[in-house]
Amino acid sequence: MNYASEDLINEHRDILFGLRILQEIVKTAEQSGDADIKDINDMIDFLRLFADKCHHGKEEGLMFPALEEAGIPNERGPIGQMLKEHIQGRQYIAEMAASVGSGALQADRFTQAAADYIDLLREHIQKENTVLFPMADRILPDDRQQQLLEQFEIFEEEVIGKGIHERLHETLHKLGEKYLNTK
Ligand SMILES: [Fe+2]
Ligand SMILES: [Fe+2]
Repeated sequence: MNYASEDLINEHRDILFGLRILQEIVKTAEQSGDADIKDINDMIDFLRLFADKCHHGKEEGLMFPALEEAGIPNERGPIGQMLKEHIQGRQYIAEMAASVGSGALQADRFTQAAADYIDLLREHIQKENTVLFPMADRILPDDRQQQLLEQFEIFEEEVIGKGIHERLHETLHKLGEKYLNTK
């Protein structure tokens, strides 16, 4: 893996870690019919800002256009499929948010949407890691990958900002300690 694709694969690790936490919250909700609403809102915040706005934003705004330019098809091709899955993921996040929107947890609604999201994103990440990004490494020249990486940094600064990035990672770390006993 090279430069830009490596950066996205590193972010996949953080997203997968978030999904493990979300799965534990789902388990709690399934077993007791209840879960910590603040933790759910923190997870939704992480998924919306980090997984979707930042990570999917970099893919959709920079990496995928570079791949299209290099000849990988969008419609009816792997890029179109990835875009569809991003949209589906947004719908599941919206559904999770709706399940806590009243301030009380609608447990069944939450567990269904969260489980669907976890399945979707795990498979999605697997496809990018094993098919699309290795393809990117084969067709994008080194200088284009390097340029993408620089554009990613600017994108992050402009769209998310360092402060929010750090806050999201801190929250993820705390939730990891609580739900996965990580240090
Ligand atoms: Fe993606
Ligand atoms: Fe991705």
